[in-house]
Amino acid sequence: MLIRAKNLVKNYEREGVSHRVVDQVNFTMDSGEFVIVKGSSGSGKTTLLNLLTGILKPSGGSVFFEGDDLKKMDDGKLSEIRNHRISYIPQNDTLLSNLNLWDNLRLPFFLGKGGDLKEGELNERLKVLLEEFGLSDRKCSYPRELSGGEIRRALIIRSLSLSPDLIIADEPTGSLDPLTTLTVMEKFRRIAKEGIAVLAVSHQPETFPFGDRLYEMKEGRLLPAKVFTNKK
Ligand SMILES: Nc1ncnc2c1ncn2[C@@H]1O[C@H](COP(=O)(O)OP(=O)(O)OP(=O)(O)O)[C@@H](O)[C@H]1O
Ligand SMILES: [Mg+2]
Repeated sequence: MLIRAKNLVKNYEREGVSHRVVDQVNFTMDSGEFVIVKGSSGSGKTTLLNLLTGILKPSGGSVFFEGDDLKKMDDGKLSEIRNHRISYIPQNDTLLSNLNLWDNLRLPFFLGKGGDLKEGELNERLKVLLEEFGLSDRKCSYPRELSGGEIRRALIIRSLSLSPDLIIADEPTGSLDPLTTLTVMEKFRRIAKEGIAVLAVSHQPETFPFGDRLYEMKEGRLLPAKVFTNKK
């Protein structure tokens, strides 16, 4: 088992009243699985992802990565998981405005997130991904010269480039047209088949059949919504 949430709870105080935003979530994911979570705005999806990546500390319950409780890990182990094992595409993430697209894509590598990867190997991977996502001719563009959808695609490319074990993506296709959305979903499907686990939040029904399992977040509870079989 790659990641497991056990009785996970997150409460937030608002005007002196405690609100349960993530409510007793139990959830497991194995390598090679592609799981999609839907749910209305404010239902707790982003909060759940932030708990799973260890960015937020739970009010109750635990997250286990390969059986180890994130709460009990020292900072070194936790940052090793965050930097090398999990690749997170936050909901409102963006690129650094003073770097062009190519340098933005290479930034995590230069921040030491590449593990054993060689620079030449990274460059080759990035070139293939840029081609696949239709951004080859935008390498020298600065973020202000890119559209919202192009920036989303770039963030996806960046998350795929460092071969993590788990990709967590918060509405990765939110601002993409239907065709590009399908390209991204097909890519996630393919990398899941290669053994990487993918957890994505999505509202678009056309994306759901690409996953193995669909969940719905409802007022903090994570409810199984559908299992898809007969994957290509
Ligand atoms: N830091 C915080 N302090 C207090 N309340 C918060 C905090 N972060 C989120 N919330 C509240 O928790 C609830 C869940 O937020 P969350 O961002 O997880 O929702 P979501 O399902 O991702 O919504 P969306 O689809 O709009 O992105 C919301 O009501 C939000 O206002
Ligand atoms: Mg959200």
